[in-house]
Amino acid sequence: MIIESQGDVTRAVVDAMAQTANPRLKQIMDALVRHAHAFAEEVHLSEAEWDVGIDFLNRIGKATNDKHNEGVLFSDAIGFSTLVCLMNNGQSGATETAAALLGPFWRMHSPRMENGGSIVRSPTPGPQLFARCRIVDPKQQPIAGVEVDVWQSSPAGLYENQDATQADMNLRGKFTTDADGRFWFRSVKPGPYPVPVDGPVGDMLRAQNRHPYRPAHLHFLCFKPGFKTLITQVFVDEDKYLETDVVFGVTRALVGDFAPGKGPPPWGDASGEWTGLNYTLMMEPGEAQLPQPPIK
Ligand SMILES: [Fe+2]
Repeated sequence: MIIESQGDVTRAVVDAMAQTANPRLKQIMDALVRHAHAFAEEVHLSEAEWDVGIDFLNRIGKATNDKHNEGVLFSDAIGFSTLVCLMNNGQSGATETAAALLGPFWRMHSPRMENGGSIVRSPTPGPQLFARCRIVDPKQQPIAGVEVDVWQSSPAGLYENQDATQADMNLRGKFTTDADGRFWFRSVKPGPYPVPVDGPVGDMLRAQNRHPYRPAHLHFLCFKPGFKTLITQVFVDEDKYLETDVVFGVTRALVGDFAPGKGPPPWGDASGEWTGLNYTLMMEPGEAQLPQPPIK
């Protein structure tokens, strides 16, 4: 159609997309265009601001590579990842869920480990951690044979792919739950960390007067056919950033109980102080699908 006025534009675009063969794609694009147009009208977007926005999107693409995913970071930093996560877990948002956003640091092919093993692969100073976790179904029955990817930052707040001093796959490992749904491992207590701020997301956070920190946490990805893949994070309970996580990942259910250990550790030996974590994760029946790895 020939556009007679501003008021015609949205309908012209929606009409042009009307023959989209895939009905779900049609629904998504229709809503995206209507909301994007409504957004521009609501703020009366200027041409200069449109320039800034397009440049911002282009810079997100340019900042993304095999080792860094600025697109995921942007989605996380505006709460979009958490919104999508909570809508699609906990019986489609009806109940509390153990799920949380994936974040930009999951790598596929973590080394397989025996339960009790340590994911510390190169010297990583910090408080020792003994984690004892369990996976149950909605009826609290244990789930055996779940493959669990664990990954975390160092106590200094860096993932191995961000830090040349750490060995490849340091603080990453893949465990399998036993007949009682349990998996357990040794590590070091993770530290809070800033998300990368040298790209467009950093510019956004500075403009909004926001700090870039995430409270310390462990990441888990739990996979078993017959169950919806559980992607989650468990947070250190005394962390000062719990209330202000830059990517809005903290829900009540995900605050772990990281208790200072007394006496000998639960297995093996530990010189000096150690911290214990006991945590139970719940997986829902559903389809076992792996996400797209944000980095290689
Ligand atoms: Fe993380």
